Amino acid sequence: MKRTALYRPHIVIGMICALATSIALGATWNQSEQKQADTRKYQTLHIPEAISGKDFQLELKKRSKSFWAGATTITYGYNNESFWGPTLFLNQGDDVKISVKNSLDEPTTTHWHGLHIPAVMDGGPHQVIPAGKTWNPKFKVMNNAGLYWYHPHVHESTQRQITFGAGGLIIIKDPKEAALALPREYGVDDIPLVLTSRRFYQNNEFTHMGDNDKYGDYLFVNGTLDPQVSLPAQFVRLRILNAEVERGYNLGFADNRTFYVIGTDGGLVDKPIPVTRVKLMVGERVELLVDLGKDKVGGSVDLMSFNYNHPFGFPGGEPDQRPPNGSLLNNKDFQVLHINLKEKTAKAIAMLPTTLAKNTVWKDSDVTQTRTVRINGGRPNFFFDNNSFKMHSTNQTVKLGAVEKWTVVNNNIFGHSFHIHDVQFRIVERSSGPVADYEQGWKDTVYVPRGETVTFIAKFEDFASEKDPYMYHCHMANHEDGGLMGEFLVVEEKKSQTQTISRSAAEQSRAPAAPFVGADLDCKPLSLSDLAKDKPVLLFFIELNCPCSIDAAPYFNQLQAAYGSTCNVVGIINAKAGQAKEWAKKVGSRFPLFADPDMNVIKSYGAERSVYTTLVAPGGRLEKTYPGYGAEMLRELNQKLARLGGVPVKLLNFVGAPKTLYSGCLFNLNK
Ligand code: C2O
Ligand code: CU
Repeated sequence: MKRTALYRPHIVIGMICALATSIALGATWNQSEQKQADTRKYQTLHIPEAISGKDFQLELKKRSKSFWAGATTITYGYNNESFWGPTLFLNQGDDVKISVKNSLDEPTTTHWHGLHIPAVMDGGPHQVIPAGKTWNPKFKVMNNAGLYWYHPHVHESTQRQITFGAGGLIIIKDPKEAALALPREYGVDDIPLVLTSRRFYQNNEFTHMGDNDKYGDYLFVNGTLDPQVSLPAQFVRLRILNAEVERGYNLGFADNRTFYVIGTDGGLVDKPIPVTRVKLMVGERVELLVDLGKDKVGGSVDLMSFNYNHPFGFPGGEPDQRPPNGSLLNNKDFQVLHINLKEKTAKAIAMLPTTLAKNTVWKDSDVTQTRTVRINGGRPNFFFDNNSFKMHSTNQTVKLGAVEKWTVVNNNIFGHSFHIHDVQFRIVERSSGPVADYEQGWKDTVYVPRGETVTFIAKFEDFASEKDPYMYHCHMANHEDGGLMGEFLVVEEKKSQTQTISRSAAEQSRAPAAPFVGADLDCKPLSLSDLAKDKPVLLFFIELNCPCSIDAAPYFNQLQAAYGSTCNVVGIINAKAGQAKEWAKKVGSRFPLFADPDMNVIKSYGAERSVYTTLVAPGGRLEKTYPGYGAEMLRELNQKLARLGGVPVKLLNFVGAPKTLYSGCLFNLNK
């Protein structure tokens, strides 16, 4: 069977620019004739394996998959999936445990997109799973029935890992949804559709050149190229996720039939909303009811994306056919899924429900706090409020229990897909006009077109932490990796910003610091009692694989440089000398490192986390211990080092240091 002629790439346009780019890249991508749509056959839509229960095991692995006959492509997949991952079925109210094994040879994280869970379980860039390690989050399922998803959220590598295929769906069930007459036979009349696209090199590998490869040439649904599916001639439910890097979709059917939105990111809407088109931007989900009951068995209908001729700023609307800003799918109407009709099932849903849910509506009178975030910068590096994303800097602090009104201002040159963790919000205003009916359900991701301002209201409840942040960002992974992201803390009121730890009692009595003797990486002797004979010693505990240790190192360099011969900074790292040397080179550390692979010294100081620090006074007694690092603590150290070293305080500005004390991902040193 041939595909419809609507999808017809134009090869000539952009050829000159393509030639130049391919020379620059030293490789060329495959947009060749034999891969053209007209000669390609449909493939059967893959339905990801469903797993359910309260105890889940996920393993992310390097895999390979054949998208084209006779060709294989390197991919990432969870468990048995060769691209993408199994669908997790969760029940509202359950306490679930998940073990995520990272079998890649690079760090990853697993973020539970849309779930309302504690920040430390969120799987954002702070919950790194080093290569070969397993992460064991657990949480109570609190969200409404709906479609959510999981995906890597690694600092600056999100686009690449998603490109390889890492991700998966989550379907939450709850009693209210279960009581409705809706299709819910997974893979039969309840169909998950994960939309994304990829570009291939001539050698059939995916291209992943960051911003150059934000748009793929070839559409996949659930990892299937040119998909077709057989569906019963009755009401079917389509649960659709836009899992692209940047492309937006404007979904509808080839015959322009009316269909119904029944759910948005955070669950069911109040009642089915009739539409003929629905926009779906990166990270957004929509649940549709489509009446196939009047279709002829044996006939077919195509789900389409009508991406031709949108105002500039619509992601994927740029007319180019080639990188950096184009693809074979850009600025055209293309087929998403070919649907063949078959006989009804025994449990066919024949009627459209009249009501679905009774959702809370937030009003201005509920709002306890307002804030505005502005998108600025330009391709490929956009920012919020002129700040490129930096790990461990708190960009917003929200009070636990607050009902906040956020206004996202995009006076910028392009559209974005704004996403916030922890909460589901209600969109209350768009500067361009009324909020579309189909956007009036619970949302965690919202399209902010070029030149537009969007306002939403959300309640930040249940989970607070002084140190573990949630994220807000553009979900276009190239923009996110490029810096369009921020951190926010949800904090209980009246709590001090600096944490104190149990050790301070011992420090007050100035207990002797645990002695250690060894050598630095240049084999020079290193002994605490020698170092602390007449100078203060600052011990900086480092976890080899922790990005926070790398981030913190420059500040210790700064202190060492400022106090020179009147203080000793020593890094204590849980690694062998060789690895420690590489770390020192990468970081450019100016202080000596003590390799502590068996963690004897680390344990003797009870240093549980990376970037834990201990100041030892001249004479070798404990002065003060900090369970992390941050601007306030660095300023205090500056004072203390001057006083203990008997020199004037240096004027130091710890640019970019976290405002609150930061204690280092989930890396546990003392284990
Ligand atoms: Cu889908 Cu910050 O994530
Ligand atoms: Cu963006």
